[in-house]
Amino acid sequence: MNNIAIFASGSGSNAENLILFFNDSPNGKITLLLSNNPTAFALERARRLGIPTFTFTRDDLYHTQKVIDRLNEARIDYIVLAGFLWLIPPAVIEAYRGRIVNIHPALLPEYGGKGMYGDHVHRAVIAAGEKESGITIHHVNEHFDKGDIIFQAKVPVSPGDTPEMLAAKIHALEYRYFPAVIDEQLTLL
Ligand code: GRF
Repeated sequence: MNNIAIFASGSGSNAENLILFFNDSPNGKITLLLSNNPTAFALERARRLGIPTFTFTRDDLYHTQKVIDRLNEARIDYIVLAGFLWLIPPAVIEAYRGRIVNIHPALLPEYGGKGMYGDHVHRAVIAAGEKESGITIHHVNEHFDKGDIIFQAKVPVSPGDTPEMLAAKIHALEYRYFPAVIDEQLTLL
């Protein structure tokens, strides 16, 4: 049984979906939710579901051991980034090499990198006239959105789609595939 930590900066709808899914998995449990944003709704969702939370500052993450100490204290085996907007520092990558995954709301390697998150991604995809978009689940390395790709799924971009409409289609894909893909990764450790 793997202890899984989720890092989330915002709403946390994927975090909630993962917490519920892993309640019933023999491979792992979500045992900690960490956020850089004290007002992230993800923290509230975790609290409601009885998951311990930890809030940290930029300084805590990049210049101290506080985040790594908290991960160690909770005996975390695996890390999931679900709408986490800061770069994971090398010390955490080293400690969890091959055990950190992220979900990106587009088909990487296009539409990734710093600043490409949330509606920025969907607006760029629509502005470029793309006929399809999707989700990418990938390993995390020292660079934004650059780790090896594990899984992708596509949705059509329809004429007239707004960023909100595209986001809704992509969220549906995320809820459907992200938990199962992580669950399978845990069986490969
Ligand atoms: C998701 O679209 C995910 O792909 C991206 O950030 C969004 C997070 O949404 N990395 P939520 O906070 O899980 O609702």
